[in-house]
Amino acid sequence: MADIIDGRIVARKLDAETKAQVDAMVAAGAPRPGLAVILVGHDPASEVYVGRKLKKSNEVGIRSFEHRLPEDTSQEDVLALIAQLNADPEVHGILCQVPLPKHIDTGVVLRSIIPSKDVDGFHPVNVGRLSTGTGGIVPCTPFGVMKLLDTVFDDLTGLDCVVIGKSNIVGKPIAMLLLEREATVTVTHIETKNLPDIARKADIIIAAAGAPELVKGYWVKPGAVIIDVGITRLKNEDGSTRLVGDVAFDEVQHARAVTPVPGGVGPMTISCLLANTVQAAQEQLAGRSGDGSDIDFADLPDRSMIFAEGGK
Ligand code: GUN
Repeated sequence: MADIIDGRIVARKLDAETKAQVDAMVAAGAPRPGLAVILVGHDPASEVYVGRKLKKSNEVGIRSFEHRLPEDTSQEDVLALIAQLNADPEVHGILCQVPLPKHIDTGVVLRSIIPSKDVDGFHPVNVGRLSTGTGGIVPCTPFGVMKLLDTVFDDLTGLDCVVIGKSNIVGKPIAMLLLEREATVTVTHIETKNLPDIARKADIIIAAAGAPELVKGYWVKPGAVIIDVGITRLKNEDGSTRLVGDVAFDEVQHARAVTPVPGGVGPMTISCLLANTVQAAQEQLAGRSGDGSDIDFADLPDRSMIFAEGGK
């Protein structure tokens, strides 16, 4: 039987660390970190997620500022709210829940959040910093995936990782984080040929395609470690529903370890959001702009400014 990587336990530990950081900041006289959450409209899943984000923020001592806007709010009004939050010193993190209503351009809205307060890590400045190893805010789900891998491995150097799915918010940033840890990374996508053969070579499979039970038992090398990012609600024959991941869980018991769905990656995401909020608050209080303009690239200890591996 594969070991189960329990995301709830890892998330609880991270929350305790975040709470300790908040307590230490406040004890040292710093302002309490603040997170603004914007929800436009009444998407039922978003309502649930936002409710959880606000509740958990308060549990770790982060101030939350809730902004619920009607479905027909104009893009201009959302941008005006974000501009106000960008300038508010009590707000250190801003999260605008997606999906947004169809009349709003999601990219324009998300890019209007200043990089230092972009606790989702979606802004191109944060994406660029991640891909050059120059810090910044790491998107929550990829951050959570790495924390789960850290419960199994001390070191990822040279391990063969296959990331299934190339989305901007999951697949690509996970690939960057794995590369930073010196893993060998293959990113696959919907046009990839021979995916089962590629997956079967992997020491680590990250399944983030959003395709229910895509990864079958025969795709998995014995002893591999699997992180399942997918979550889809399927209908049973009797009309009831069940949540499934991107991995055919019952078929992969020859793996070394696997995350369950639910209870694997899911619980990590909010905990990483809260950790990002505290990181953002600390950096803002230290006077860093978050746009990378204050980084002394000459001083960087890593290889981010070297043009080829040969220059090591
Ligand atoms: N909708 C579902 N997950 C997320 C998330 O992590 N961030 C934002 N902004 N919206 C979401």
